[in-house]
Amino acid sequence: MFPWFVVLSSFLSLALGDLAVLDNNAEYNDGRFGPYVTQSYRSSDVNSPRLNFMKPFTSCDDGSFLFVAPRGGKAGSKPYILDAKGHLIWTADHHYGEVYNFQAQVYKGQQYLTFFAGDDTIRGHGAGKYYMIDQHYNEFRQIHAANGVKGDLHEFQIIDGKTALITAYHVVEAKLGDTEHEGRDGYIWESLFQEIDIETGEAVFEWRASEHVKLSESFDPIGSRGSEGDPWDFFHINSVDKDLNNNYLVSSRYLRSILYISGTTGEVLWHLGGKENSFTDESDPGQDALHFVGQHHARWTDNYNSITFFDNRADWTSQEDVKSAGTKILVDTELKTVAVDRVYVNPIHDVLSTSQGSLQTLPNGNILLGYGFNAVITEFSPHGEVLCDAYIGEPSSRFGTGDVQSYRNFKFNWTGLPTTEPSFRLINGTFFTSWLGSTEVRSWSLRHAFDEDRTYDDLALFPKEGFETRLELSAGQNIRRYVAIVALDQYGKDLAWSKTIDISKDVDFWLTRGIVDAASYDAEYSSDGRDREVDFEWLSIRDSMILSVLGFAVTLTGAIVWLLSTQKKEERADTADIEQCSYHHAECKPMGVMWKIQSLLSSKLKRISYEHEHIALLEPESVEPDEASEWSVATDRGAAV
Ligand SMILES: *[C@@H]1O[C@H](CO)[C@@H](O)[C@H](O)[C@H]1NC(C)=O
Ligand SMILES: *[C@@H]1O[C@H](CO)[C@@H](O)[C@H](O)[C@H]1NC(C)=O
Repeated sequence: MFPWFVVLSSFLSLALGDLAVLDNNAEYNDGRFGPYVTQSYRSSDVNSPRLNFMKPFTSCDDGSFLFVAPRGGKAGSKPYILDAKGHLIWTADHHYGEVYNFQAQVYKGQQYLTFFAGDDTIRGHGAGKYYMIDQHYNEFRQIHAANGVKGDLHEFQIIDGKTALITAYHVVEAKLGDTEHEGRDGYIWESLFQEIDIETGEAVFEWRASEHVKLSESFDPIGSRGSEGDPWDFFHINSVDKDLNNNYLVSSRYLRSILYISGTTGEVLWHLGGKENSFTDESDPGQDALHFVGQHHARWTDNYNSITFFDNRADWTSQEDVKSAGTKILVDTELKTVAVDRVYVNPIHDVLSTSQGSLQTLPNGNILLGYGFNAVITEFSPHGEVLCDAYIGEPSSRFGTGDVQSYRNFKFNWTGLPTTEPSFRLINGTFFTSWLGSTEVRSWSLRHAFDEDRTYDDLALFPKEGFETRLELSAGQNIRRYVAIVALDQYGKDLAWSKTIDISKDVDFWLTRGIVDAASYDAEYSSDGRDREVDFEWLSIRDSMILSVLGFAVTLTGAIVWLLSTQKKEERADTADIEQCSYHHAECKPMGVMWKIQSLLSSKLKRISYEHEHIALLEPESVEPDEASEWSVATDRGAAV
């Protein structure tokens, strides 16, 4: 489709704007690039975490993206979409607050970016709201918890593309009667969840832990807590899922239990693990389906026959292992038996996360772990083999410090269609371009013109690699004064234009490198040269439209007259220079003059455009669609946007 690409690219030097991808880099892990490793760009003011791939994610590349949200002692809190090589696709251009649980979810058949943002300084839970961002990166909706409580960071799951499951924490008075503080009146952090109708914002279901669970089920010692200023977080809800029976699956960190809750009465139908466990463990020797600590992200899987979760194997007060793991448990809810199906353990590094974490079952059956308190993302085969493994900006020597945390990590497919224009900057004679959020751009077309508002011709085509593409020109390119970049999709079709850069103030730079030809410099950059072109700036839009129509009519009439007058000559001499169709071709003959006009339009005028004549007077819309790509070389800028 672009034969000229091959020619041009052979004399362009090409380099990534992004820094090199790091593979098992020891300096990184020693902390020599700092406690939070990021990269910045020249075409954009955003930055992104620089990943250290212990096992490249390119071997797990199914076309989807990594969704992470690093925060913590050293990392500012932003959501990031990264590709399999760690190259940035999108990040928020402003600070929403502390960002948790960044995902792509479906609501009413449309995909949205979703996350929690707010305050997370309230004893391990949050007070904030939930955001939905559409494919054009416009904020679609903010969702709040209902009934006067504040939304918490732990859960935001859209169910059936309609409702949202969210968690919340709320201080309530309680009789701390069934604890060792017999009879004491005090305060607890109530754990609750709500199912919110996204359309109306109302809760269609709400559940409060203390109404259905005894405080004595908690493994978290109350200590001196229980006052109004320091309530006891006895339950600590951290995930909610829903099944086809309209019942809920809730993970309680401090009960060390996963609870199954009736969607009609709120009653606890069974406990998996914890002090009130309802199941018999039929696991193989050496495995334990009922004992887990600080677990997160409990989800039904395998058509509601199994439950997966991230088993931290530690919390703030106890440590039961040297590493956290993903766990999949087979559950027979009739016979009340369970058995460990598989444990997913990272053999490359002992990563123990005392908080947070996620387990996502991918469509192909692979298991993706996010290590929460440590910025690690690992993909396993269904059988537990580590396929891909990366550190999200955090050196392994800093694990356990909380410098870089990412509550949950995911992989999702995503189509991002930003409405902003691509970013295009010229720095010291090198162009840099990027387009934050676009998943569709495959290559960049550098175009140039003598006059800012006139015809832009192709100068060079660069494949997009990484977030930022660096465009370097070399001698002999004869760059014109005004330059713009156009993002092209996989079919080579224009997606969007950047702003224009006037390179004339740096013309000495271009001259010394031979990128501008000294001989043509006077003609092209001096005012004499520009005066050769008709200045249309005084024309109003209406005037230019009238002139366009008139000009088109005149050109057409001229062409017909000329054709008719030359027809006889051509038939005699057979020396026509119209390339597209041979006169000897049978199908061409019957069309006569009309065919000639069309042929004339598609071949002669294209050449005229290269000679910088008045191509802008021609309306590109009048061209047959299948000729459009031919015409793009001469298309007026405004019409191609
Ligand atoms: C992404 O889409 C591809 C193609 O449809 C599919 O094979 C893959 O499973 C999807 N990946 C995720 C993480 O959804
Ligand atoms: C441009 O190049 C000059 C000379 O090589 C250098 O001193 C300057 O720092 C460069 N500027 C930028 C923005 O890179």
